[in-house]
Parts: sequence; C-alpha cells; structure tokens
Amino acid sequence: MLKLISPDFVFHSKLPQHETIKPPLFADALRTCLKKAGDWNCDVLTNRDSKDVDYSAFLDAFRPLVTAFCDAVGTRGPMELRLGALWMNLYNKGAWQELHHHSTPANNISFVYFLNYNPDSDGQFFFLNERSSHYSASGLHNVFKLAENLNIAELVPIPVQDGDVILFPSQLRHGVTMQRHDTNRCTLAGNLLVLPQKTQPE
Ligand SMILES: [Fe+2]
Repeated sequence: MLKLISPDFVFHSKLPQHETIKPPLFADALRTCLKKAGDWNCDVLTNRDSKDVDYSAFLDAFRPLVTAFCDAVGTRGPMELRLGALWMNLYNKGAWQELHHHSTPANNISFVYFLNYNPDSDGQFFFLNERSSHYSASGLHNVFKLAENLNIAELVPIPVQDGDVILFPSQLRHGVTMQRHDTNRCTLAGNLLVLPQKTQPE
C-alpha cells in the first residue's frame, strides 16, 4: 500500500451567487486596477491600495465558504477569524505572477476568487512543491512516475473555472503562468488570520 505523507492542501469551491456578484465587481476591477505593485516583479495591475471598492456582496457570499473550509479540515474548538487585506488583480497579455507567498504573523490563510477567468486561454494558477527538488536531486523523478501518479511535481497547477474560490495556507508559494491574451483575467485575493478563540477568565 502506498501512502502519501506530509501533504499540503488547498480547499476548492465555487462562490455562491457568482453570476450576480461578478458584473459590478469586475467593473470595479477595471476601474481601479491601474497600477503595478512596486514590490512585485511582474506587470500585473492591482488595486491593492485602493479603498474605493465595496466588497460587502463578495464577503457575504464568501463567509459560508470559509465555514465549509473550516468544517472540511476540522477545528479543535471555537475559533477567531480576522479578515486581512483584500485586493483585485488584472492580467493582460504578457502579465504573470512570480512565485510568492502571503505568510506574515498577521495572516495564515489566503484565498483567491477567480472573478473573470477562461480556463482555455488565461494564465494558470499553480503552487510550488518545495519538496520536488529533493526527488530531482536523488534521481527518483527519472525512475518513477511521481508527477503522474503521486502529484509530486515541482509546479502543481490548480485547474479552476470562472467563479471558483480556493483557500490555502498562506505559506504555500504560488504563482500564475504568463497571460497570452488581452482578456482581462481578473482575480480577487485576500488574507485571513485564524486562531483559537480566547476564553474569558472566570
Ligand atoms: Fe498570491
């Protein structure tokens, strides 16, 4: 029997009411994603510093997905959840996102909502499997079908559809392959902090 150990994980779902939430939010993205982030090594346009977007409809729909994510993993008891930054990104021809993670002491779960996404033509979101290089160095990738059969590859693409949402531990490094078309690939990204709820002293 073959067992996988030390796994990473991603929670994959679809945003409820995506069809009604998308049009106004996508219009906001086109209006506000105007700058490249100074600390990113890519041409993605973002509204990271903008306060001029109402995310309340998205957050109302997103909340049940967070609950489903917590239920799927299983929690140890009452927890506290804090919403960190929210921002949108626009990818057009030639844009990609370099490998990065979102991990800071202020957040430990991150998410991406694929607000406008065509899986046939748009750049693909992927995770980096940090451990794959050890298998390459040992020669095991040349012998075994590790990528095909065990999902042990250096880059692990996550196939998604328009309206999908993924949540994942913030420390997982990820990126986006090059956008080949001017089709306004658009994502909404954000960070959460989850921690055990403090019990009040009696
Ligand atoms: Fe990211």
